[in-house]
Amino acid sequence: MTQDELKKAAALAALDYVPDGAIIGVGTGSTVNHFIDGLAAVKSRIAGAVSSSEASSARMRAYGIPLVELTAVDRLPVYVDGADEIDGGYSMIKGGGGALTREKIVAAVSERFVCICDASKKVATLGAFPLPVEVIPMAARHVARELAALGGRPVLREGFVTDNGNLILDVHGLAIADPIAFESTLNQIVGVVTNGLFARRGADVLLLAAPGGVERHERG
Ligand code: A5P
Repeated sequence: MTQDELKKAAALAALDYVPDGAIIGVGTGSTVNHFIDGLAAVKSRIAGAVSSSEASSARMRAYGIPLVELTAVDRLPVYVDGADEIDGGYSMIKGGGGALTREKIVAAVSERFVCICDASKKVATLGAFPLPVEVIPMAARHVARELAALGGRPVLREGFVTDNGNLILDVHGLAIADPIAFESTLNQIVGVVTNGLFARRGADVLLLAAPGGVERHERG
C-alpha cells in the first residue's frame, strides 16, 4: 500500500466515530481530505461541520457539507484531524500544513480528538518533524531568537502566510522529552500565536493505518 492509501484507510475508519445528527470538527491536511471525501458520501447523517482552515472549508463547501461557525456552538462531540507526529502519550506535532491555530481552537472545544495517521507518523520522541510555531509578523525575529535559546533551529517558512495573516517558524533539531511542559514554555514567548505541540490537549483516539490494517488505540 502507498502512504496515501494508508492515509485514506485511517481517514475512512474515522467515519465510525461520527455521531448521527452531530456538528463535528474537521481538521486539515491530506489525510483529512480523504476523511472529507468519505464524509461527503454520508453527509445527510450529520448536521454540519466546523472547519479548521480555508482549505478544508472549500473542500466541504464543494461537497455541500453544511459549514457552521465555531462562534455558533459551545461544544463539539468529536474532532477528526491528522498529525505530523504522534507519540505513545497521544501528544502530537501538528501544523505541517500551517493550520495549527484554528486546529488547536477547534480541538479545544471538542469532547473527543480522533487522530488519523499512517504508521510513519508514530514516533517514540517528538521533534524529528520540525515544530511549526505561528508568530505575529513583527515578532518573528524576536521569537526566532527565543526559540534558538531553547535549543531549536527556527527556519522561516518562506512565502507562507497563515489563514490568520501570520508567519510560521519551523523549529528543527528538537527532541521533546516533556511535550506538555515544552508546549507551555513556548506559549510564554511574546509574539507566539500558537505552537504546533498538541500535548495539553492531545488525541483521545488514534487510528493508525499500517499495511496489515487500521489499528484503533484509545487513551486509557
Ligand atoms: C495541518 O496544519 C496539519 O496539522 C495536518 O493535520 C498535519 O500536518 C497532517 O497532515 P497530513 O495529513 O497532510 O500528513
